[in-house]
Amino acid sequence: MHTRTTTDIQIAASAIRDGRLVAFPTETVYGLGARVGDSEAIKNIFIAKGRPPDNPLIVHVAEPSWIAGVTSSVSAMAADLVDAFFPAPLTLVLPKHPDISDNVSAGLKTIGVRMPDHELALAFLKACGEPVAAPSANQSGRPSPTTWEAVVDDLGGRIDLVLKGESPRFGLESTVLDCTGDHPVILRPGSVTLEDLRLVVPTTRFAREGLDSTAGSPGTRHPHYRGRAKLRIVDVATRRISTNRLAYIGLDPPTVPDAYALVHVADTVDRYARKLFSFIRQCEKEDMEELHCQRVGESGIGRALMDRLSRASVAD
Ligand code: TXA
Ligand code: MG
Repeated sequence: MHTRTTTDIQIAASAIRDGRLVAFPTETVYGLGARVGDSEAIKNIFIAKGRPPDNPLIVHVAEPSWIAGVTSSVSAMAADLVDAFFPAPLTLVLPKHPDISDNVSAGLKTIGVRMPDHELALAFLKACGEPVAAPSANQSGRPSPTTWEAVVDDLGGRIDLVLKGESPRFGLESTVLDCTGDHPVILRPGSVTLEDLRLVVPTTRFAREGLDSTAGSPGTRHPHYRGRAKLRIVDVATRRISTNRLAYIGLDPPTVPDAYALVHVADTVDRYARKLFSFIRQCEKEDMEELHCQRVGESGIGRALMDRLSRASVAD
């Protein structure tokens, strides 16, 4: 299969309606979309990505009114969150509508729903005319793609089309929030932070490992974000240099700059987060053996960044 690219949402929407897989940009990362009602196409998403079958897909909507078509009920608490945030890098886990195939939810009775805050993504979804299920458009276990080129690197020859658009503003995947209980539980931290959510629902909290939410966020159990360079979290750029193919990303310039063949210094945590996945891929292209990532404080977006870093890192 030859993977085409386009900037035309009508071409992309008509491919989706024909049952094809289309990657599209959002404000977080590129997604790999299929019609939510097309179980053959949904199956093909899992095949194209090599995705474990127990990992549910997020459903993307063009407007809040579409949520009723994929859920069986929306609590007052969930409705408040929709009103306050959508469109946003925020996925709400809600009770699944019985008409939505178990393929989409990987057998769960719940469904993750989000409305991306990205003009082209919304126009594309509107043109599709119905919700689009989409995981991140990477090969399973690899860093999420933040450019169309990264999508083609991972999935070229396995998917039909990439809709090219403005690069994601956030660069880390959405916050996943379980709204099926009495209070919201963050299953995956993202750019909509605990602090943001508490302004609307003060009892919001993080999932406690192994304790909360029946299935938790199944995706967080699988290996993630592996590039070919070994990733280590460091407090300051270290002197323990084991290779000359060493890269660094962080907020502070490395104290031993000569040690690094490739360096990216970000001036804010947001910019660090936006750069991380593409930097991991760049390290790979430039044959780095090891990547040192500076630790950041775990408040705000720092929590999401540290979550991705710790899941991508190798143990010492
Ligand atoms: O920003 C994003 O969320 C991107 C863009 C494309 O929208 N999508 C994304 O999808 O990151 P994916 O499939 O790579 O990650 C979805 C995460 C997984 O950890 C999955 O387990 C969790 O959301 N998830 C989806 N549906 C769920 C559900 N019903 N219950 C619990 N967790 C769910
Ligand atoms: Mg993913």
